[in-house]
Amino acid sequence: MENKIKEVKKEIVSKSNLIKDLKDIEKLRVEYLGRKGAVTLLLRKLGTLSPKERPKIGQLLNQTKREIEELLKTKEVEIEKLDKEKRLQGEGIDITLPGRKLGRGTAHPINLVLREIEEIFLSLGFKMEEGPEVELDYYNFEALNIPKDHPARDDQDSFYITKDILLRPQTSPVQIRTMENQKPPVRIIATGKCYRRDATDSTHSPMFHQIEGLAVDKDITFGDLKGILTIFVHRMFGEDRKVRFRPGYFPFVEPGAEVDVSCLLCGGKGCKSCGYVGWLEIMGAGVVHPKVLEMVGYDPEEYSGFAFGMGAERIAMLKYGINDIRLFFENDLRFLKQF
Ligand code: PHE
Repeated sequence: MENKIKEVKKEIVSKSNLIKDLKDIEKLRVEYLGRKGAVTLLLRKLGTLSPKERPKIGQLLNQTKREIEELLKTKEVEIEKLDKEKRLQGEGIDITLPGRKLGRGTAHPINLVLREIEEIFLSLGFKMEEGPEVELDYYNFEALNIPKDHPARDDQDSFYITKDILLRPQTSPVQIRTMENQKPPVRIIATGKCYRRDATDSTHSPMFHQIEGLAVDKDITFGDLKGILTIFVHRMFGEDRKVRFRPGYFPFVEPGAEVDVSCLLCGGKGCKSCGYVGWLEIMGAGVVHPKVLEMVGYDPEEYSGFAFGMGAERIAMLKYGINDIRLFFENDLRFLKQF
């Protein structure tokens, strides 16, 4: 009997080393301590022993039973602890998982074009200037040689705030503000928002952006204007573009011109995009009118200059092949993501 007890003890110790989960523990408990368990059966046999042997074996058996209970309890605690650790680990942050991507914004196509144009003119020695979007009638008309009763005032149907204050319909007033504040030589560009009372369609928007240019110095001629704008067109649209100057009227330049670039699609042969003429108009320009120089206190006998103005939306539409100006302002990500 004593040997049998020792055997049982040895057996359960070795079996307990194979325990993997709580179920294994329960199985062992039933196998040894259950109603038909090995230890229970031995305890039942105590009655068959002689009175002399009984106390000693009884004690040994009870002790063995307690030891088994303890062993199983220890195992149970161990496994519960392991389980918990595993669970916690599973709940933790797995830094090896690929993250959720946050979309990255891109520059708006109009800003891209503005930046590109700015860089071209900065590299040619022009400086950046700024003017207010809410402008005085004086800077937008009067000082630009557009007197009160001048018909050109109708051309630029403006948003008036009062009789003398309006949202600027062009960036040309920055020419005046700049010249009022500095002596020649002047070489500036000014970019910004402009506003006109135009009905919205595929080529008109009540708000748009312009880029203004102005150079004033001794002996500046129309030839300088042609040279600078040809460099600009080549850098902006490609070396193989041709530039054409047509007579055009703006009250603040004389002579004035409309500047065309050979069609970006057909190269000048004529196609639907250029209306079969082979040319696309991209800006207004000209030699600064002597009256404008006089208005800012420059001597037109001593100084001369050229000026130009273009729409950023029009340039962007030509450059990227966009056929509706409204796309710039609708903020549809499917459109904006392409830039
Ligand atoms: N301000 C003119 C416009 O908005 C463009 C221009 C600028 C023309 C400078 C000549 C010189 O149409």
